[in-house]
Amino acid sequence: MSTVPQSSTVPQDAKPVSANPAASTYDEVPYGSYPVPASHPDRLYSMAKLFGMNPVPPENARILEIGCAGGGNLLPMASMFPNAQCVGVELSQVQCDYGSEAIKFTDFKNASIKQGSVTDIDASFGKFDYILCHGVFSWVPEFVREAILRVSSENLTDQGIAFISYNAQPGWYMRGMIRGMMIEHVRQIEEPIKKISQARALLKFLVDSNHNVNTPHAIFLRSEAELLAKMPDSYILHEHLEDTNHAFYFRDFIALAAKFNLQFLGEASIASTWPGNLSSEAQKGLNPINDAIARGHYMDCITGRTFRETYLVKSSSKVDRNLEDSRLMPLRFSGKFETVNDANVTDGSTSFKLKNGQIIHTQDPIVKGALEILTSLHPESRTADEIVTELENRKISFDSREQTVNKILSTLVHGVLGGWIEFRYLPDRMQNKVTRRPTVTTWARVQALANKYVTNQRHEFIRIDDAQRQIIPMLDGTRTLDDIISEVSVLLSTGLLTVSVKGNVDSKEIPKAVVAQVLTQLAQNAMLLPEPA
Ligand SMILES: C[S@@+](CC[C@H](N)C(=O)[O-])C[C@H]1O[C@@H](n2cnc3c(N)ncnc32)[C@H](O)[C@@H]1O
Repeated sequence: MSTVPQSSTVPQDAKPVSANPAASTYDEVPYGSYPVPASHPDRLYSMAKLFGMNPVPPENARILEIGCAGGGNLLPMASMFPNAQCVGVELSQVQCDYGSEAIKFTDFKNASIKQGSVTDIDASFGKFDYILCHGVFSWVPEFVREAILRVSSENLTDQGIAFISYNAQPGWYMRGMIRGMMIEHVRQIEEPIKKISQARALLKFLVDSNHNVNTPHAIFLRSEAELLAKMPDSYILHEHLEDTNHAFYFRDFIALAAKFNLQFLGEASIASTWPGNLSSEAQKGLNPINDAIARGHYMDCITGRTFRETYLVKSSSKVDRNLEDSRLMPLRFSGKFETVNDANVTDGSTSFKLKNGQIIHTQDPIVKGALEILTSLHPESRTADEIVTELENRKISFDSREQTVNKILSTLVHGVLGGWIEFRYLPDRMQNKVTRRPTVTTWARVQALANKYVTNQRHEFIRIDDAQRQIIPMLDGTRTLDDIISEVSVLLSTGLLTVSVKGNVDSKEIPKAVVAQVLTQLAQNAMLLPEPA
């Protein structure tokens, strides 16, 4: 069951702190639990604010995760928000124990994982400002799905937001064909590991058998094989070979949610709901459709969407999709754009490569300056007004401040809709400069001790190298740069850390160079916490 690659591709070699052998199929093929950026309360908060709600800031919130596995998604939140209360409910005792041990080890006072079923959650659990349920809904029977929606409604505060991910139609009709053939093929096999290898073998056989065929069937087989080759065994087992895997048309999911007094707030990827990202024919057809649900349905049909990450709020909440200036002005934007040389551009424009690979060109010094500013500050965010102040600092001239702010706002909001700019309302939870006493979260320090992946302040899973693994556990805020350099000197002299240094560096300078490099990488990867005020 799982994370379809759209949001969180699980690295094949990742072994999270909370790897979780568990009951039933989870016993033999553990489903690692990882941070899911789309489920982070900062993202839910921002979407709710954008649409006129007044959510509780995550730092003081009560957060519930249904089916939290070993806590790989919930516990980084507990680490990030010491004053929040994070509760996980997980059916598997083994996974629950795994997460509870991690809580004991980290001494998180604000987190707990209870063994039990979502069907047992009642009013005694209290109300939550954020209710998260990732990778569960499509893969459980109907009565459990109804319990997920019941809890997401009854246990949600009035301005609360629920996040539910699920497999989507019509895309899953196609993918379901692969699942169907795999299930048929492994029907007689008991052992999960063998089932997976046989399922993979079948797909390979089908692809090989079609190697010079270009029918729609052969092309689809190849593309699915390519995708599944990147996915871990646990994905094949829990997505394709699990008994239950129910995909929903968006409007059916929303109709079901409405029965539990929940309504659509937005989709984690706002760009995926923006017709402007589709062809002009699609836009023309979708233009007359004002209803967000009907439009979403037809967009899914156009794109063949396979997965959704939907934010829901109470039916009684006022959701205002008219983006007023008062809500746009405080938006904070972040993004990183590579300047590229485009031989076809002869008019002096600067070309930027966007996150989705698309290249945009601009001759406008204001737009160029804004994109360069965001790139230089990444992963930090800035409001349009702050970007204009930075333009002033960089001596980029403009006429009217108000018009310049509006131009930048309009460009960046289009970037958000286009999916190449991120937005938030809350201050950054990281700093892109190396601080005097560099600090990372407790969770990241524990992860570095156990694994080569850590969770950053953007709630992403980041691969770290040996030097980073050795240095991250030192970053608890008690050490100055000199302290860290001394400790790294010892590690290097005792051979506990080996590094290859390029160029002619004085051996005495190597520890300093290593520390500088690692901390810069961590700052750029959204790992370093802001300096305390
Ligand atoms: C694929 S995992 C997803 C784990 C985690 N949410 C993630 O995305 O990394 C599904 C989890 O839901 C749990 N689960 C299944 N039925 C449940 C129920 N009725 N109540 C609570 N948890 C349940 C499973 O034990 C499993 O840990």
